[in-house]
Amino acid sequence: MDSSDSKVNGLNSSQVNTGHGNPRQDLQSRDQEGDLSEPIILSSTVVKGFGRGSKQLGCPTANLEQNAVSQVDDLSTGVYYGLAILEGTVYPMVSSLGFNPHFGNQHKSLEIHLLHHFQEDFYGKLLGVAILGKLREEAKFDSLDALIKAIEEDKRCARDMLEGKDVKHVVDMLLKLKGNHEQ
Ligand SMILES: Cc1cc2nc3c(=O)[nH]c(=O)nc-3n(C[C@H](O)[C@H](O)[C@H](O)COP(=O)(O)O)c2cc1C
Repeated sequence: MDSSDSKVNGLNSSQVNTGHGNPRQDLQSRDQEGDLSEPIILSSTVVKGFGRGSKQLGCPTANLEQNAVSQVDDLSTGVYYGLAILEGTVYPMVSSLGFNPHFGNQHKSLEIHLLHHFQEDFYGKLLGVAILGKLREEAKFDSLDALIKAIEEDKRCARDMLEGKDVKHVVDMLLKLKGNHEQ
């Protein structure tokens, strides 16, 4: 696939704008909300989580391997946005890195929700991920409904952040990940 005509599923990736006018741009710290100075690129097989994502939250997530979680050890826990590649197609994504305080998990997880409706899950498949910026801290909510609403807001926010941003170089990096561009 030629990167010059690369498209992010559901978004127009042709705009040349690395966040001008975006007050959250160029934040250097990996602890703060806002864009990372460089995207974090990683690749992982999708493994099973607790299975709450689809059933309780209506938001299926692809859980990444512990090896992938270790690769972002210096990244603060929180909700992030970015892009992900699955079987040659790049999708916008939101992700959660941490202990899911609403559920009190004992181990740290990195979960990716692709902003696209899939009929089937993709356990065992290879997912390439580009983390671009942090949206908020993870939180414990008063109700499941409040968590669901927050996640819906995260999805909106991720789309807003990606609109008008030049992601061509990020798409290129994802396409170069071994194994991820195969349909
Ligand atoms: C965009 C997004 C935001 C999330 N925010 C939170 C949060 O603030 N607090 C929390 O405990 N879990 C949060 N989660 C994680 C969900 O609780 C988790 O995906 C769900 O429990 C499914 O986990 P499972 O795949 O292990 O079943 C978030 C997940 C996503 C995709």
